[in-house]
Amino acid sequence: MRQPLVAGNWKMHGSAQSVSELLGALVEGGVPEAVEVVVCPTYVHLPQAIDLCRASSVEVGAQDCSHAVEGAYTGEVAAPMIAELGCQWVIIGHSERRAYHGEGEDLISAKLKAAMAAGLKPIFCVGETREQREADEAETVVAAQLRGALESVDTLAGLVIAYEPVWAIGTGLTATPQQAQDMHAFIRGELAGLGVDPAATRVLYGGSVKPGNAAELFAQQDIDGALVGGAALVAEDFQAIVTAA
Ligand code: G3P
Repeated sequence: MRQPLVAGNWKMHGSAQSVSELLGALVEGGVPEAVEVVVCPTYVHLPQAIDLCRASSVEVGAQDCSHAVEGAYTGEVAAPMIAELGCQWVIIGHSERRAYHGEGEDLISAKLKAAMAAGLKPIFCVGETREQREADEAETVVAAQLRGALESVDTLAGLVIAYEPVWAIGTGLTATPQQAQDMHAFIRGELAGLGVDPAATRVLYGGSVKPGNAAELFAQQDIDGALVGGAALVAEDFQAIVTAA
């Protein structure tokens, strides 16, 4: 039995005040024990978020980390620094990092290794573009992303995968529950081929998850929760998605 996980990716949003309001509401509202809840604010808001979540079961993650442990990498933040703050999680390979920062499988693989070595649990994102889906290449693309990033990583215990079709991110378009289920089942098959126990690995769906579509997505056998963008910035919406899980 895999514990449901709902993670909020706040992307480049937030101020000291909005972080305090959002997490104040989440902590006060409480989260069901059965669901693991993670929030991923910007680097600068991590210490504040960790403080605010200390008295609750809400966990905190970063949105990215460096492949390197330390050194002359201006602007980068290393996984051990994130862990030292008190974060348990880190998002790796988000499609926005792939698209705007040119991240490819080798770099993502190195980041996964750095995160694991620092004791962080990665939420590793995969997903195809609209053109790739229309060309019937969705499975080939996702398989290549999984293989390219995971093949050379030795320890993958605790890894979480997020399937985020790029065409569904921030667009209001959601994969149908059946489309998502089919891809999640496919991902589990690929994980088995990579030596990762598919029954023990949580696979989240991401892409315009809202209170109105969360329950039917979560009802699918292979969907273990969600990586939520826009709706994670609205306390009652995020809470409703957590409750649906
Ligand atoms: O990582 C979460 C994400 O990319 C989905 O964003 O706004 O479509 O829920 P959104």
